[in-house]
Amino acid sequence: QKDGYRFFMEKEIYEQSNVITDTLLGRLGTDDIIFEELDPELFNGINEIKLCACGTSYHAALSASYLFERYARVKTSVEIASEFRYREPIMTKDTLFVVISQSGETADTLETLKMAKNAGLKTLTICNVDNSSMVRLSDATILTRAGVEKGVASTKAFATQVTIFWMLSLHLAKLRSTMDNGEIIKQIELIRQIPGAVKVRDEIHEKIKRLSKRYLHGHGFFFIGRDIFYPLALEGALKLKEISYLHAEGYPSGEMKHGPIALADPELFTIALLPEHMLYEKSKSNVEELSARDSTICAISPLQFEKADDFIATKNHESYMLEFFEMMVVVQLLSLEVSIRLGNDVDMPRNLAKSVTVE
Ligand code: F6R
Repeated sequence: QKDGYRFFMEKEIYEQSNVITDTLLGRLGTDDIIFEELDPELFNGINEIKLCACGTSYHAALSASYLFERYARVKTSVEIASEFRYREPIMTKDTLFVVISQSGETADTLETLKMAKNAGLKTLTICNVDNSSMVRLSDATILTRAGVEKGVASTKAFATQVTIFWMLSLHLAKLRSTMDNGEIIKQIELIRQIPGAVKVRDEIHEKIKRLSKRYLHGHGFFFIGRDIFYPLALEGALKLKEISYLHAEGYPSGEMKHGPIALADPELFTIALLPEHMLYEKSKSNVEELSARDSTICAISPLQFEKADDFIATKNHESYMLEFFEMMVVVQLLSLEVSIRLGNDVDMPRNLAKSVTVE
């Protein structure tokens, strides 16, 4: 049932607040994160984490790498499953191998899990489907509680994956004593605010609907961001490609001058993620360079940005992570509205399947 929404994807974007609340349920202690499903032994002797996934789940994994290294000070690497499988990787037993998958059935990701098991590594699956192949195969599982996701373009599953990773990074920080209790308590309070941060605000949705009228004529899109906003930029670009069939690329803001800026012209739309609490000045100057070369700029930020042609005002949040979650909703809505205006079947985009069980 679409419950009055035009497409399942729209419904699923609006559901994010509730499914994140479900994902947090019973997991937030006063000064620790509680994962009852995890045996504390799982992390014994672990010096490195390797995350492996495809598509949107890969973007969630990339986001996790920033959090794990920043908060838990644990060496973290991220792999695209279809690459990892064939490149004769080195796997050492002090590595925890983590696969991320909405479905738990993606063939390439499943194969990497088998490889890790065969190499004797401890394994953890972050998954939305209980009893899926990956859940059954791995040593430990954390379930996201996104509910059934019908839209082919993943939204709420991604939201719950990043929520789990934020929590897991703090859980590890506690175990490894890399953050003091006061700081962990503060972060837990921020986590409680995610459901509020992802609630769709009418004025934002209306603004995006208006912008989509012009954006459907864009020749190309750059989504740019720094730090954890870079994986979000990749995810924004993927969403637009998938359902609008427009060419979009995600880039780290600081990389533009190393080549991509040559493409700048008024027909190139730059969607700039400009959070207040993560490298604002640096990101802003990257966007100014693009503006000076005549790219059309859409800034997503809580801070007014006079060089922007279009501006989507997000809220002032206390932390860059809450800004991340609100901006996630903005980029999801942008692809949704452009796709609807183009008359596409948002939930069943051409050439795509919900679960990729072939190699
Ligand atoms: C994008 C999308 C795909 C999946 C990818 C992995 O919107 O849905 O990129 O994220 O096929 O699927 P799972 O997470 O089921 O392993």
